[in-house]
Amino acid sequence: MAADHNNDHRVGFRPVRDEVDETLSIEGDFPQWLSGTLLRNGPGTWHAGRQPLNHWFDGFAMLRRFRIDGGDGEVAYRNRFLDSGAYTYAREHGELGYREFATDPPTGPLGRLGRLRRLRSPNFTDNACVDVCRVGDRYLATTESPLVTEIDPRSLESGRRFEFGGFADTYTVHPHYDFDRGELVGYGTSFGGSESGYTLYSIPDGTEDVSVIGEVESDPPGYVHSFALTPNYIVLAEPPFVPSRRRLLTGSSVIDGYEWQPERGSRFHVVDRESGDVLARHRVAPFFCFHHINAFEREREGGGDSDDGVGGQGEIVLDLAAFEDASVTEALSLRRLVSAEPSPPAAELRRYCLPAPGSSRRGVESETLYPGHVELPAIDYANRNTHDYRYAYGVSNRERPPESFQNQLVKVDVRERDAVTWDESYAYPGEPVFVPAPDRGDDADGRNEDDGVILSVTLDAGAERSFLLVLDAATFQERARAWCPHPIPFGFHGQFYADGEERPTRSMA
Ligand code: CO
Repeated sequence: MAADHNNDHRVGFRPVRDEVDETLSIEGDFPQWLSGTLLRNGPGTWHAGRQPLNHWFDGFAMLRRFRIDGGDGEVAYRNRFLDSGAYTYAREHGELGYREFATDPPTGPLGRLGRLRRLRSPNFTDNACVDVCRVGDRYLATTESPLVTEIDPRSLESGRRFEFGGFADTYTVHPHYDFDRGELVGYGTSFGGSESGYTLYSIPDGTEDVSVIGEVESDPPGYVHSFALTPNYIVLAEPPFVPSRRRLLTGSSVIDGYEWQPERGSRFHVVDRESGDVLARHRVAPFFCFHHINAFEREREGGGDSDDGVGGQGEIVLDLAAFEDASVTEALSLRRLVSAEPSPPAAELRRYCLPAPGSSRRGVESETLYPGHVELPAIDYANRNTHDYRYAYGVSNRERPPESFQNQLVKVDVRERDAVTWDESYAYPGEPVFVPAPDRGDDADGRNEDDGVILSVTLDAGAERSFLLVLDAATFQERARAWCPHPIPFGFHGQFYADGEERPTRSMA
């Protein structure tokens, strides 16, 4: 096991064996006002008994909880594997029992016959390893399969497992929370026949009732991981990465069933949030995207004088982390990642400006806001989501193009097109989560938009431990860190729930 002795990103792909619950030792000082719980999700191991899994996205879910009490200067950490049917099966049988993102259960010839049906009735996994979500008073571990598991946000114990929605085959793990309207907004994707496409839904505060906003037909639908929300519109950015019948017959997993068809281009579907009608479709040069960053509406400078945008120069501005193509899905396979120089493709921070419905403008414009790698993006979500904004944060790479796994954090000023970074030898930071300082006297010019902190679970591959990093978001300098007892495998997403928060808000989509 020579790889285990490399002090590089490969430490972040080692399995975790222990579940712990302890108070962490702290360097620096946590802000007094910072009190709440950072709940995160991600893989804890990439082995199903004797069977190794193929992909970063395949690992068995392990929840991580950081209980932060800034007033007392205390941070407690706990980790616990999600008690899913998939994980239980793997432990009992020593192999995979359900289809993961890029690994299938071992199958004989009969199993292969099932592949034609795989996207309609895909024996989906309940290994919810991607994110957490609060709906009403419930906390859920989520994945793109409809099978979600309720979790106790304190003990991390798994609770009831149930099927979400019931109107689509897969669901986004990045629903938006609209702070102005007080509702969660998301979509599901359906594969096949007349129902093929996306179904948009909302869940108003105070209920767990999923109500359908509308449908977007697309056959076949693309792999759409997240979306854009503005006060009036939902925009789906659909890449030409689509399920292929031919590849489903020969492929070996869900993601192997997808094919890059650049001639199809990427499409933006613009939907009215009130009526659910598709108001416009735009086609642009092909690109791939996991994560949107923010979106908002504005009247273009020097444009018309109409208040309602009709006949004016209104536009929908949409920022996202754009890849050239979908090769990143293969680049995040473990075969590639667990090598000395994995060299994954880079995403740039790109802005698309779409004509608002009714606008006299034509055509879609795009521009690069930050050319370096940026992924797992975040903003001041609570105050800026769906509104014009100034700062985006993300994981990034020191080298361009990337040679290593993500090894720095970046803060991009999308107005000034400037960026600052944080990095350290042997450090591999995870998704940055922005927590705004309370009572900061917010103003629309973005002067106080970065008054707060960035939380990032960061691996120190030299020390072979992870720590919770706290950066001052304004200066992008370290304020504090809290040392965990072990290296935490690289995860995906999480949410910070501030103490006393009444609404089921999110700190990012
Ligand atoms: Co994601």
